[in-house]
Amino acid sequence: MRAGLLGIEHLERAEIEAILERAKAFQPAQNQPFVKLDTLRGRLIVNLFFEASTRTRTSFEIAAKRLGADAISITAAGSSLSKGESLVDTLNTLAAMRPDAIVMRHSASGAPHFLARHLPIPIINAGDGTHEHPTQALLDARTILDHRPTLEGLRVAIIGDIVHSRVARSNIFLLSKFGAEIVLCGPASLVPPELARIAPGVRITYDMREAIRGADVIMMLRVQLERQQEAAFPAGEYFQFYGLRLEHLELAKPDAIVMHPGPINRGREISSEVADSQRSVILNQVENGVAVRMAVLERILG
Ligand code: NCD
Repeated sequence: MRAGLLGIEHLERAEIEAILERAKAFQPAQNQPFVKLDTLRGRLIVNLFFEASTRTRTSFEIAAKRLGADAISITAAGSSLSKGESLVDTLNTLAAMRPDAIVMRHSASGAPHFLARHLPIPIINAGDGTHEHPTQALLDARTILDHRPTLEGLRVAIIGDIVHSRVARSNIFLLSKFGAEIVLCGPASLVPPELARIAPGVRITYDMREAIRGADVIMMLRVQLERQQEAAFPAGEYFQFYGLRLEHLELAKPDAIVMHPGPINRGREISSEVADSQRSVILNQVENGVAVRMAVLERILG
């Protein structure tokens, strides 16, 4: 962990628990202005984003600043990457500026691991291709634990484009380590049977109602059209079969929560009524994103 954070798969349970516990201390207190800390004063954190991002990039930046660090963000569109500079050359250039950590998002699975092997700087994976998105799983766990005493034995339905989702993979690894029961659901083209073997406690159903029945947590995912060569299903039918609507919520536990990492596509994977309902914790997830990323940065750099 001191060396960075590349994924959840190989992270110890104790490490995860420590981050989740520490993040609780960084959650904003009701009606109280945030106090800027100086834990990381004088440290420089570079956010390097080769893929689009709203929540992840801004929350890493806010987290760094709240801990007193300096943070700069570089996106592919505004950098020399768009002038043909290679990834290695861009990285060496950034390394020469001596940042204390690099937060990186890239469309290639394994890109941050490559970087970590070449630079003596802690690397934090902010999403690599279809592989992992560790801080998303951590903030999701923090959000679930704000509503449930433990992850053990919880029924979590993850619904949508599982095969292309780094969010799903990181969540599956984390939830499985803590003994949750995970049900994956979506069109067969996006939920191949072998996904049931990626971690203990995972099963698959292609029936949305069955996935939701008795669930404590319903986690919806966007269809990642940008990662598909050809359409995996007829677009018009998706919402009918796999879109979350109010009537589905009656099948879940009465106090079940609805999650989504964002960006949400209203009327595609989730109805507006559900997204804006009392059961939705989508904005709590965003809030916890800052708290969890503060805990991660403090742990790596503090
Ligand atoms: C996700 C991502 O980029 O992996 N968004 C996020 O970080 N909150 C999910 C998505 O793009 O659908």
